[in-house]
Amino acid sequence: MHLIYFFKKTRAMGGTGHSRRCSFPLGTSFALAALGACVSGCDGSPTLGAGDVEQPEGWSDALAMAVPEDLDPDPDVLEIELEARITDLEIIPGKPTPVWTYNGTLPGPLIRAKVGDKIVVRFRNALPEPTSIHWHGMRLPNDMDGVPGLTQDPIEPGGEFVYEFVARDAGTFWYHPHINSAAQVGWGLYGALVVEDPQDPEVFGDELVLVLSDMALDEEGQFLPEDSGGEFGDLFGREGNILLVNGKVRPRLEVRQGKQQRWRVINAARARYYTLRLPEHTFVKLGGDNGLAERSVETSRIVLVPGERADLVFTPSDPPGTSRWMQWIPTERGFGSVFNRPRENMLEIVTVDEDPVLPAPIPVELREIERIDVAGAKTLTLDLTIDTESTAGTREVVMGINGIPYWRSQPLEARVGETHVWTIVNHTAFAHPFHLHGYFFQVLDDARVPEWKDTVDVPAESSLEIAVRFDERPGMWMYHCHILDHADSGMMGHLWVAADGETHPPHVELIH
Ligand code: C2O
Ligand code: CU
Ligand code: CU
Repeated sequence: MHLIYFFKKTRAMGGTGHSRRCSFPLGTSFALAALGACVSGCDGSPTLGAGDVEQPEGWSDALAMAVPEDLDPDPDVLEIELEARITDLEIIPGKPTPVWTYNGTLPGPLIRAKVGDKIVVRFRNALPEPTSIHWHGMRLPNDMDGVPGLTQDPIEPGGEFVYEFVARDAGTFWYHPHINSAAQVGWGLYGALVVEDPQDPEVFGDELVLVLSDMALDEEGQFLPEDSGGEFGDLFGREGNILLVNGKVRPRLEVRQGKQQRWRVINAARARYYTLRLPEHTFVKLGGDNGLAERSVETSRIVLVPGERADLVFTPSDPPGTSRWMQWIPTERGFGSVFNRPRENMLEIVTVDEDPVLPAPIPVELREIERIDVAGAKTLTLDLTIDTESTAGTREVVMGINGIPYWRSQPLEARVGETHVWTIVNHTAFAHPFHLHGYFFQVLDDARVPEWKDTVDVPAESSLEIAVRFDERPGMWMYHCHILDHADSGMMGHLWVAADGETHPPHVELIH
């Protein structure tokens, strides 16, 4: 509380530079140093605050993502063109890969808007197969959700579709196809969508969006077959052998000791879980899927399941002129996910040879998260299931919800205005990242920092409860496991949120 108070006070005071920074409630020795009141014994303490210096020149150039041209002069409307097309890119030097891209880049363009903006996306499919764009995590009208068979027709090769919606919530979102998604996402179709809140504290630092993904390539840079590994590939989920950060292999980031950066991290991988670790460092997590959490927490690792996002402050603390790797650490998510798997280097953090600066304090209280009132809520249980089916002598893995694969499922039912509590049960040997379209939920678990989410891990042999309010926007919405191989194997369902007086669900086609 008092940090927020100081923070607001600081913001309100305005002004720039040294004197403003000195009004922070600093630790005493640092405070003395920052005030220039250094006495003998405090050699080496920073004399500048983080707010007094810029990031090193070109700090994030190696991680830059394409920014689409805004075709609408209205500052509150972002109108862009996206084309899905195959583009040769050198993931492995000298060995071009036919990557499935938006506008020819990997990841697709970084779409950045501010809360309340209207976003218009003129989309064209120049791929050899049907596709669509789903705006993961966005609370948008049902017919803009991008799910072929449910909310729109597949966009055929050569076809076009205009997506148009208002960015009502600040947060870190992303976009990807919702048909043949394991393959299409695995081949490169994903991009970041950031909705900024102009009220966010400046002390969070300069922003960097990190899209984490992987790709399954052979030595010639060609994609491994989309069904590689057969049954086990379906069961485990297909992780690529090449780790990518913003489409790059082991890129570098330049930092200055003490000068904070705000990272918005997105797990866009088809199946891979990410546990990120930077030795000798901690991160201050601000929130995740749908904006800031109730309070910030310091953590030594960031865990992101497929589809999930993290919003954090990174404070470089290595001495000038050194470098260190941010690593991917194997995450326990069921059979074969950890044993004998090495850590991998992902991102090189290079600390430039400049004097350290004093980091700014990060507020603890960030935002009030109103708890969903679950009194009188409708309850239901979703059991995430894995079976095998034998047809004509071949065994096939069939996943489902309550034993029923997507293509044979009936919709769950809700009415606008209802609150639900869903118990999500996982008796399988693998963890499943559960994702709901169209609505934010809260995980009912007092041990967690309250926040709004749309994707949550359900570890093997466990269960959890989520609360969700279907307050508006009737229609057919998806929920599924975000290991996309699992989703395509049937671990998906649909939910009919009925409008007032509506008695029959709309006709849908469950595309297998
Ligand atoms: Cu990332 Cu059905 O979604
Ligand atoms: Cu989604
Ligand atoms: Cu799963």
